[in-house]
Amino acid sequence: MPSPSLTVNGRTVPLDGVPAHTTALDWLRESGLVGAKEGCAEGECGACSVLVARPGTTTPTRWTALNACLVPVLALDGQEVVTAEGLGTPDDLHPVQHEMAVRGGSQCGYCTPGFVCSMAAEFYRPDRAPGEPTPEHGANGFDLHALSGNLCRCTGYRPIRDAAYALAAPDADDALAGRQTRPAPAATPTDVPGFARPADLPAALALLAEHPDAVVVAGSTDHGVEVNLRGLRARQVVAIDRLPELHGVSVTDEVVEIGAAVTLSEVAARLDGAVPLLDLLLPQFASVLIRNGATLGGNLGTGSPIGDAAPVLLALDASLVLVSAAGEREVALADYFTGYRRSVRTAGELIRAVRIPQPQPGLVGFTKIAKRRFDDISSVAVAVGVDVVDGEVTRATIGLGGVAATPIRARATEEALVGARWPDVAAAADVLAGEGTPLDDHRASAAYRRAMLRQSLLKIAAAEVPA
Ligand SMILES: Cc1cc2nc3c(=O)[nH]c(=O)nc-3n(C[C@H](O)[C@H](O)[C@H](O)COP(=O)(O)OP(=O)(O)OC[C@H]3O[C@@H](n4cnc5c(N)ncnc54)[C@H](O)[C@@H]3O)c2cc1C
Ligand code: FES
Ligand code: FES
Repeated sequence: MPSPSLTVNGRTVPLDGVPAHTTALDWLRESGLVGAKEGCAEGECGACSVLVARPGTTTPTRWTALNACLVPVLALDGQEVVTAEGLGTPDDLHPVQHEMAVRGGSQCGYCTPGFVCSMAAEFYRPDRAPGEPTPEHGANGFDLHALSGNLCRCTGYRPIRDAAYALAAPDADDALAGRQTRPAPAATPTDVPGFARPADLPAALALLAEHPDAVVVAGSTDHGVEVNLRGLRARQVVAIDRLPELHGVSVTDEVVEIGAAVTLSEVAARLDGAVPLLDLLLPQFASVLIRNGATLGGNLGTGSPIGDAAPVLLALDASLVLVSAAGEREVALADYFTGYRRSVRTAGELIRAVRIPQPQPGLVGFTKIAKRRFDDISSVAVAVGVDVVDGEVTRATIGLGGVAATPIRARATEEALVGARWPDVAAAADVLAGEGTPLDDHRASAAYRRAMLRQSLLKIAAAEVPA
């Protein structure tokens, strides 16, 4: 197996001897590329944003912005990265750098390289096209959500938005736009002390059987925080984010299947509206920077009671395909969680895919109560799927997050809803306020959580009136 290496701004550099816990950000900065900054080291500020060449959905390659502070650099073996230094130079600024400079988008400059990389990813979005402006889209088609993971402490966002909305299309001879027309680097198998990227699922399962204490990493948006803030130093890391068997997305009349390692940004693009409840969830799931790495497998793999995917997938009656060296089994998500951060998944077992039965519910709703609109963990999350026939609820499935040690189905409320006249759900909303065992903690009080449960159903019903 060749030694690991990374192509940065067009130059291929060896990654020999790099420890498994070294992040791409630390490695870049130690290599002298100090444009990307560490603001928070936990994915919240975007000062570390860089561009990575990933397979695209509409072009062979898509420049994808990622938080370099979260990704182990070894996970980028064989890949291509562009940093702010690679976009342009002081004498030859890239269009996004030029617009940021002339429109006053940078004062102290600490956040600027990160903004510039996130902005460049949106500049190169293949389907960005001029259109009617909205509060969050420029007339040039620039979607401001691309900057949802970037914080600026001193400039103020108006000049940054001005810069974004002033961007034209890339020039015909723009090298990075041209790069998107050629295939992205394939996933490179990696095997160095402490870090392995197996070539396929059988190799990954064999490795996990050999190292039952290995730490599995997909997008590393949770793992990176554990490494940076809680000092996790795994003896063996197994990267599964590029395993082809975990990358399928298929939609049939019977079932929608989503590979556990498909990033959330890709899930939205590849499903293209096939699961309306996911379309409500995904824009509220962290920032674009996080969604470009985060996966469903990672969200469910931690067993967190406040992960946002679980309530939505519970409301869709989803199941998980678990796979180990012993074979495959399917487990209803409602039976998956067994306690706080515990599940039926055994050591050496991976989530291969999520299965969602068809047809999709006729009406869906999702409410996430969090302190920040984007990029924040929920205090309470409520996902609802109902079928309504002639104004009467015939089927209801409700998933809740943040109100118990595990994500739960709101079974009593589901029963109370069936037979109710939609949208007259006040009685069922009272039942919902009593579901689970919400705690008082730093995010919210138990009383607030109960009030939000009740309010969420009323709000969802008011918004969703059948045609
Ligand atoms: C700034 C920030 C904002 C966030 N906002 C949200 C939010 O709004 N909502 C929310 O729910 N979460 C949020 N998160 C948490 C995180 O992004 C999600 O949980 C994400 O889905 C994790 O996916 P990942 O691929 O990055 O997981 P990783 O970090 O790669 O892995 C996390 C864990 O899951 C396990 N794992 C990964 N894949 C599998 C698999 N296929 N099978 C078995 N186990 C697996 C790993 O062992 C690891 O322990 C946020 C995180 C950050 C840093
Ligand atoms: S340093 Fe803040 S997101 Fe990476
Ligand atoms: S320019 Fe100072 S933090 Fe953004």
